[in-house]
Amino acid sequence: MIADLRSDTVTRPTPAMLDAMWSAPVGDDVFGDDPTVKELEQFCANLMGMDAAIFCPSGTMTNQIGVRLHLKPFEEVICYRGSHVYLNEGGGIAGNSSASVRPLEAADGILNPAMIEANINPDDPHYARTALVSLENTVNRAGGSYYTLEQVAAISTNSRRLGLRMHLDGARLFNALVETGESARQYGSHFDSISICLSKGLGAPVGSVLLCRKELEHAARRSRKAFGGGMRQAGYLAAAGLFALKNNVSRLKEDHQRARLLGETLAGLGIVKQVLPVRTNIVIFELEASVPVAPMLKWLEEHGVRAIGFGHQTIRLVTHLDFNDDMLQHTTDTLKKLSNR
Ligand SMILES: Cc1ncc(COP(=O)(O)O)c(C=O)c1O
Repeated sequence: MIADLRSDTVTRPTPAMLDAMWSAPVGDDVFGDDPTVKELEQFCANLMGMDAAIFCPSGTMTNQIGVRLHLKPFEEVICYRGSHVYLNEGGGIAGNSSASVRPLEAADGILNPAMIEANINPDDPHYARTALVSLENTVNRAGGSYYTLEQVAAISTNSRRLGLRMHLDGARLFNALVETGESARQYGSHFDSISICLSKGLGAPVGSVLLCRKELEHAARRSRKAFGGGMRQAGYLAAAGLFALKNNVSRLKEDHQRARLLGETLAGLGIVKQVLPVRTNIVIFELEASVPVAPMLKWLEEHGVRAIGFGHQTIRLVTHLDFNDDMLQHTTDTLKKLSNR
């Protein structure tokens, strides 16, 4: 048995999802005539309470287009120092937007209005002009921690009062929403752009959607073209995304429950120094200083558990649609064996 916990991106489409893909009506979306892409975009705009939605190949693209909508060259975006948009998108903000980043340290990766306000640059030629706040929900590098709508609203209200725009990397937003019980629709009013991923916990093979206000849509579609993200018969992929949004949201709680059980097992192992609180589907743990990460990952791989290193002495496990209770049992047994070697 192989339990692949490297990411929630490793899932394969189920037969039901494949059926939906096969039977999707398609057209050439670069000419604007793929009905299934249009349906997905309309569905997402309604779901998130935003005017416009643009289907893109990846979450990196939706983030990069999103921040570029708000940043001019020489301007700055404030975000958590572990944000994907800053740390894991190949320096895209520098390259695509010619802008700089103010990365903030924050407990649990959760920013607040005061720390944002304290990091807005003065209107002085020595400094980049602060133009944007980018939040991530859930926060991948902080172990899947999440914002409540109340926290988001406080940040958004204060940031907008100070003249900043708001972008959300909602790659795993639905993981947050199933925990808080809040509705996606309320998110729209707090952001100028939102990226959601269909190919993570929701289980679609490809695709992310960028949501924005109507007046930003034309610029966003221009950027998508320039980034090479215009797709032709993309309705086959959009159909998988629609299926995922309609069928795979509430079950995310199962992933969270399995992640919590993994966290509990890890906390009891001698080789583990600490486990970050498990809030959603991400489990990040640190090994004791005497236990090197690379041989541990290799041993786990040889025993059917795949994980990734996630920084100094640290390993990440992510639960998902294709990780079931048998795999959970196999993983906990294997982790215990590893610790007792
Ligand atoms: C928080 C977060 N944002 C954005 C992305 C980018 O998504 P993609 O891999 O589709 O480019 C990821 C990918 O893992 C992510 O974890």
